[in-house]
Amino acid sequence: MAKSTLAFTCINCNASHKKWAGRCDTCGEWNSIKEEAPLAAGPKGKTLGASKGRKLALGDLNTVDAPLERSSIGIDEFDRVLGGGLVPASAILVAGDPGIGKSTLLLQAAAEFARTGKKVVYISGEEASSQIRMRAHRLKLTDASVKLATETNLRDILTTLEEEAPDLAIIDSIQTMWADHVDSAPGSVSQVRATAHELTTFAKRKGVSIVLVGHVTKEGQIAGPRVVEHMVDTVLYFEGERGHQFRILRAVKNRFGPSDEIGVFEMTGCGLAQVTNPSELFLSERDIQTAGSVVFAGIEGTRPLLVEIQALVAPSPLATPRRTVVGWDSARLSMVLAVLEARCGISFAGKDVYLNIAGGLRISEPAADLAVAAALISARQDIPIASDTVIFGEISLSGALRPISQAENRLKEAQKLGFTAAFTPSRMKLSSESGMDVTKYDAVDAFVEHHFGSIDEE
Ligand code: TYD
Ligand code: MG
Repeated sequence: MAKSTLAFTCINCNASHKKWAGRCDTCGEWNSIKEEAPLAAGPKGKTLGASKGRKLALGDLNTVDAPLERSSIGIDEFDRVLGGGLVPASAILVAGDPGIGKSTLLLQAAAEFARTGKKVVYISGEEASSQIRMRAHRLKLTDASVKLATETNLRDILTTLEEEAPDLAIIDSIQTMWADHVDSAPGSVSQVRATAHELTTFAKRKGVSIVLVGHVTKEGQIAGPRVVEHMVDTVLYFEGERGHQFRILRAVKNRFGPSDEIGVFEMTGCGLAQVTNPSELFLSERDIQTAGSVVFAGIEGTRPLLVEIQALVAPSPLATPRRTVVGWDSARLSMVLAVLEARCGISFAGKDVYLNIAGGLRISEPAADLAVAAALISARQDIPIASDTVIFGEISLSGALRPISQAENRLKEAQKLGFTAAFTPSRMKLSSESGMDVTKYDAVDAFVEHHFGSIDEE
């Protein structure tokens, strides 16, 4: 007879293991393997084929469905990230570090949505109702008719939601929820998976939109939102640096809209405020005409976004000099450094390199390569780049500059914010030059030669 054995799952990458280990050999994460209750066995001696199921109604591809109806949450930046509003009966995961502002954001969203005449239920497993009311007072949301409860028992929550039949239910957080048919502690992989599964199927069955809050934990003490991501329709990450007031709501998966859209917020004394022109905000603290500071014209989702890239290059006392990156990919930095050395003869050996995206933003576009290269050389040579200039372009390993998408949108945004010049790759189609003084380069060495002259090795 098959023995029901315990299963072990990595909460970082979701790989299953036969036994516990300190380190997951699939993703390399330490202390991320957790015990999971085995799946309940089916009726004895029965395989799925033995008993007949029901015949499914099959559709075809050319059936025309009614267009998705969406309702506005009442917060434009939130609607934008959802792809234009909340889709009924959808399941959304909002994940982020503890303390980043998830509860604040969702309380505001709940209140705004309730103000549009919808029924909203907010269930917290972390804070007492009085605490939430205190926050609502502070955020001046007490007039909104949001129904509130503190509960962790999933059975009670589902019964309540079934009777209330709200348009939107917020579950804060999935790690505190507890289903009594699963034999493990709240926050374990089995519990998180079971409760998320129950809640998402409930959303589909009853037509209630559900937002699950999930804490991201590096230490792996609690099951991360990774195990939930594939169950929900939309995954939003709420990110930002603790020391900065900016918060970014980023869609990383969206069955009902684009998946790279961002919403920008600012944490203020009275809650999260929408930032409708993020470029202005990200550039507001810029040091004009400092060596190592460059403005990159980026695109986040559908929106152009100007950010300052800062670099510092200093002599290193270490045998292996430091390469420290905040807000960008460190592998990408190594690549840019290698291309500068191999194709332009500019060596960073014996020098510490620091790269920072100002404002706590994280960018992932390869289009930032040229701006990063410019910041690095500007810092190394102590020669500033003109402060009225934006830079963008992808660098290939050969040193050639690759054309990138949406160049016109980038230029338009830059012009709107008072920039007058741009350095870009050539071979790019621009229907109008948008009044900017655009200088185009084929390769990164031409760019370096033009701006920094010939660079002597020290
Ligand atoms: P919270 O929403 O509780 O975070 P999470 O649910 O992601 O754990 O936010 C907590 C932080 O937000 C806390 O450090 C205080 C700060 N905050 C403000 O700065 N202004 C405000 O108006 C509110 C309500 C919170
Ligand atoms: Mg919270």
